[in-house]
Amino acid sequence: MPVLVVGGAGYIGSHAAHTLKRRGYEPIIYDNLSTGHAELAKGFELVVGDVADSAKLAAVLKRVDAVMHFAAHAYVGESVVDPRKYFHNNVLGGVALLNAVLDSKVRKLIFSSTCAVYGIPAKLPIREDTPRLPVNPYGDTKLAFEHALEAYGRAYGLRFVSFRYFNAAGADESGGIGELHSPETHLIPSAFEAIKGERPALEIFGEDYPTPDGTCVRDYIHVNDLAEAHVLGLEYLDRGESTAMNLGTGQGHSVREVISSIERITGREVPKRMAPRRPGDPAELVADPSRAEELLRWKAQRSLNQIVSTAWNWASRQGKH
Ligand SMILES: NC(=O)c1ccc[n+]([C@@H]2O[C@H](COP(=O)([O-])OP(=O)(O)OC[C@H]3O[C@@H](n4cnc5c(N)ncnc54)[C@H](O)[C@@H]3O)[C@@H](O)[C@H]2O)c1
Repeated sequence: MPVLVVGGAGYIGSHAAHTLKRRGYEPIIYDNLSTGHAELAKGFELVVGDVADSAKLAAVLKRVDAVMHFAAHAYVGESVVDPRKYFHNNVLGGVALLNAVLDSKVRKLIFSSTCAVYGIPAKLPIREDTPRLPVNPYGDTKLAFEHALEAYGRAYGLRFVSFRYFNAAGADESGGIGELHSPETHLIPSAFEAIKGERPALEIFGEDYPTPDGTCVRDYIHVNDLAEAHVLGLEYLDRGESTAMNLGTGQGHSVREVISSIERITGREVPKRMAPRRPGDPAELVADPSRAEELLRWKAQRSLNQIVSTAWNWASRQGKH
């Protein structure tokens, strides 16, 4: 079955494309390469285009049965200083894509949402019925698209899954693809940059949180566990239903725990320095993944150590150290 992977030249989309192919699907990648990389799309048909280009989308939508929508801008900090960029791409661009889908025969769409839609949750672990109260423009744009999907689903019979990812991390076990963001803001690749001397030190934002070691706790999920959930999401859509699902492991790790795992696995010390808390950073974000586990018969398989070792394997092959 042919699937359009929009944003498939990016980090998570490229892993989804590889997993789709391994499972016998035929992915076609559609990406404007704004933050993506043609090298991550190697081995696939790559259509270079923007989500706002309805004519280009119409042509390629004729050839597929489902769409996975990974394309977005995804820097929380940048969304605060330049919300226009975020609403333009993630909301206006996203709705343009949705309209192009509606104007085609495709009725199945999987969307990359985020735990940022929950903001600062009152209760942990986070269930899908937790109120959606984002605390930054990035989260606002993702929630706006979730609302559009829900309305289109009710009115037009579009079937969808909004997957709310927790912290995506790790790399494909082949070592051929991995995380490539510029600038890098995610903890594990940022720590590798510090090890390699590409940044002076890893900043730890806050050590006075009400957590066991004072640093923030997050739910790190391996990118291939995410990718596998997407493939199962297609089978779920074939049952004619729509919903939102958390994708996480259900287990939290503190920043210090992640750094220890990195130092153990790489055998290198991570140069680090303490920095003030970032505004809007909750102490702890951990998923209750039971809805996805039940509806998809899926469970995250890979541990924090596997996340770190696959990510390091990829980073080491980048030839920068
Ligand atoms: N990385 C995470 O931990 C995380 C967590 C939660 C949600 N998400 C969401 O997952 C998705 C993928 O994230 P990622 O980390 O792979 O980011 P990424 O930047 O690596 O990938 C995004 C891809 O979308 C493409 N793109 C952006 N705007 C486009 C447009 N207008 N038209 C066509 N293509 C466009 C980019 O070129 C890039 O290849 C995003 O929607 C992000 O919000 C990511």
